[in-house]
Amino acid sequence: MSGKIIINGQEIEFTCEKNILAVARKAGIDIPTLCYHPELTVAGACRLCVVEIERMGIQASCSTAPVDGMVVYTNSERVNKVRKMVLELLLANHNRECTTCDASGACKLQKYAHDYSIKRLRYPSRQEMAPMDTSSLSIVRDPNKCILCGLCVRVCKEKQGVGVWDFKNRGSRTEIVAAMDQPLAESACINCGQCIAVCPTGALTSNSSVSEVWAAIRDPRKTVVCQIAPAPRTA
Ligand code: FES
Repeated sequence: MSGKIIINGQEIEFTCEKNILAVARKAGIDIPTLCYHPELTVAGACRLCVVEIERMGIQASCSTAPVDGMVVYTNSERVNKVRKMVLELLLANHNRECTTCDASGACKLQKYAHDYSIKRLRYPSRQEMAPMDTSSLSIVRDPNKCILCGLCVRVCKEKQGVGVWDFKNRGSRTEIVAAMDQPLAESACINCGQCIAVCPTGALTSNSSVSEVWAAIRDPRKTVVCQIAPAPRTA
């Protein structure tokens, strides 16, 4: 399906783009996202990508297909109000110890909280602090920083064909767990690190002691005494 839509007053043609987000990005219009990846299925989980569409109201741009003649606003007062509320809700259940977080500076949630001038939260946290999973040689998981975007679940299943991560429970009790709620080290994880690469927060980070050893091994100028067994490789 092809046609033209008007985004912020600018007429933009679309041909094969499946959603408004892709059409906007093609034209250089930025829309914030936390759960979208162009190479993975669309989850529509975070709702940060909302836009205002005439006669349709507020919609998630990643899960709304462009229709010829659509008039879209990506930056209206209403859109920004909803995005701020979404960020506040996500931050309410997020461990905000940003200064000591491995992902600080690379965290999308941190960046958007700054971009949208989130100074205080109107919503209380509903979560107890949960233990971190440090069982894996290569990946550390901090559930207190997970925003349930599901990117780790999808990349592991759809790209790697492994399916280590999955959702558990429903509604406010939803969480992401490895291997039917077992420690990551006891799962079929192949230590590829794809889940770390797509995680928008510090919920999944690399085990720094191992990554430092690997970096040193790859650097011929350095000699290293390897104290940790390298991550197991599978075919
Ligand atoms: Fe669209 Fe998350 S990016 S809902």
